Formats: sequence, structure tokens, C-alpha cells
Amino acid sequence: MDNLELFKTLPLPGIETGSDVIKEIWAIGGGKGGTGKTFLSTNLGVTLARAGKRVLLVDADLGCANLHTCLGVNPKVTLSDFVQGKVNKIEEVLVETEIPNLALISGAYDYLEISNPKYTQKMKFIRKIHDLNFEYIILDLGAGTSFTNLDFFLSANMGILNVIPEPTSIENTYRFIKSTFYRRFKKVARDPEVKEVVTMAMDEKNRLGIRTPHDLIDYIDTIDEKAGQMLKETIYAFSPKLIVNQVRSKDDITLGFSMRSSCLKYFGIKVDYVGSIEYDDHVWRATKKKRPLLLEYPSSAASRSIERAVKNMLAEEELKFDLILRA
Ligand SMILES: Nc1ncnc2c1ncn2[C@@H]1O[C@H](COP(=O)(O)OP(=O)(O)OP(=O)(O)O)[C@@H](O)[C@H]1O
Ligand SMILES: [Mg+2]
Repeated sequence: MDNLELFKTLPLPGIETGSDVIKEIWAIGGGKGGTGKTFLSTNLGVTLARAGKRVLLVDADLGCANLHTCLGVNPKVTLSDFVQGKVNKIEEVLVETEIPNLALISGAYDYLEISNPKYTQKMKFIRKIHDLNFEYIILDLGAGTSFTNLDFFLSANMGILNVIPEPTSIENTYRFIKSTFYRRFKKVARDPEVKEVVTMAMDEKNRLGIRTPHDLIDYIDTIDEKAGQMLKETIYAFSPKLIVNQVRSKDDITLGFSMRSSCLKYFGIKVDYVGSIEYDDHVWRATKKKRPLLLEYPSSAASRSIERAVKNMLAEEELKFDLILRA
């Protein structure tokens, strides 16, 4: 019996999806392309589904969707059918995968205009996605710091940053953190003057000399003390998780700790380092086979690290991982 068949023989616990179900929305972003966001999203989803959670994976990489490929799914309907009004309800673009408990909303790879949606259009489908009855909804974001990526990231209860130990990825991740935080603050700020300052701060070479969220707090404090206080509270509440992917050495692993310290020191932002994942040839082998790593190579080093990271991320104590596929 292969892994999937074994999986299918399991009872499907707790898939009651009534409105009282606690819903967690996780978004996987990080700025740089090709760092493993889709790989991570897929396998976080599989891990949760294996734990008996009802999970929805959403390909939020608008215009460059490929989550379906990692799952070996060839969807007949995608997000573009919803966005273009070909179907009325978002539920109609939802497909079940071969993995019990795991559903997918595939990205709109067939409708290029979607990569830059209007704000109202975007907020509409973010809302619709949030309304779906799943215990976990995982958003796989695209590369870069577009407002679409930032808004998806901010819509989640848990934002997960995926960085790899390369200067370009590290740089983009810091930029992503900063941009996300500024966007978040701009949304909660009331005063137009404060909003304007935040807009200027988003330009890294701004003439106000604001280079970090710390600088922004100091500046805003001088124009509006109340807004400064709110800014501090917003910073405090913003605590993304960090995963270092494709690690090859001890130094690579410690990158997560140094990034955590730097974020606190320079941005005042508390980043929670939840784990590292080895660079592992099994990952590309699984990708080539269009199969999730967790199904194809459950005992690989990367699979185990993903499971450990998920455990670290879960607040719910009751979720015990019965790693059946390894048994
Ligand atoms: N831990 C790892 N070990 C080895 N290869 C990996 C690992 N993580 C990801 N990869 C490989 O890196 C490549 C990019 O992965 P993936 O498509 O998930 O990145 P992405 O961040 O989603 O890219 P994009 O920004 O284009 O959406 C894939 O070929 C994948 O197999
Ligand atoms: Mg991707």
C-alpha cells in the first residue's frame, strides 16, 4: 500500500465545518522568488490535513500560479472563473485533492490580467476566501512586495516568512517585513497627515530620513503622540513567523536567530523563528513527480523539519501529530 492509500484508510476526524469551527489563516510570503513558498504551503497543508484538520490551500500567486502542479492536480476551474464572474460562488472553484481533508483553490494561471487586481476586487475575494468553512486556510503568495502580496499577508492570522540563506533573499525578506508593517499601519492610521508620512516612508530613499519602523515611530511621535502610541501597539501586535529554508550548514540555521535579533533591534518587530528546513534533494524529486514531499518522502530530513515547524507554529495544544505515514 503506498502512502496515499494508507492515508485514505484513516478515519476523517473532525471535519465538521460548522460556523463555530476555529479558523486559522496562514499566509506564506517572503519577498524573493523561488525560495520555496509553494513547496512550503503545499507541505504545511499536507501536514495539517494528516493531523485530521480540514485544510484549504489557496494559490494566491496571482498570474503565476503553480500550487496545483505541486499537488499533481489539473483543475478545471480556477480563481479566474470567479474573478471573471463565470461562476457566482467561490465554492464553485474549490476542488478536492486526492489527499483526504485537503482542498485547493487553484490560482488563475489562465487569466493574466488578474495579477494586478483592483483593490475592491482583491478585498472581495480575500473576504470570500475567509468566509469558507475550513479549519486551516493556507495562502501561497507570489514573490515580491506588491500591495496584493502585502494585503494577502496581512489578511492572515499567521504570516509566515520564508527566507533562504542567500543575501538576496535576506534583503528581500527584511524589505517584505518593513513594507508589510508600513501597509498595516497605514490601514489603521486615521490622520491623513500620518498616512502621508507612512506613504513617504515606504520609499526607502524618502527625504524625511525614515529608514526603519523605529525612525517612523520617532517621526510620528513628533506630529501626533496618539498616532505614535498606536504605531507602537501595531508593531507589538505584528509578529510574523520565520522559516529558513534550504539550509546546508549550522551557520544557515543560525541565520534565523540573527534575523530575529535584527528585526527587534532595527525594526522593533518581534519575529518568531519557528524552524529551518534542510536543502534536500528529495524536494526537487518530489516536485518533479508533482507530488507533495510529505507524501512521497515522509522520512526525508526536509519532511521531518516541516513537521517540526508546524508543531512549533501551532498554538493548539490538543493537536498532536500522529505521524502515521512514518509508522
Ligand atoms: N528545502 C529545499 N531543498 C531543495 N530544493 C528546494 C527546497 N525548497 C524548495 N526547493 C526547490 O526550489 C524551487 C522553488 O520552489 P517553489 O516553487 O516552492 O518556490 P516559490 O518561492 O514558491 O517560487 P515563486 O516565488 O516563483 O512562487 C523548486 O524547484 C523546489 O523544488
Ligand atoms: Mg510559488
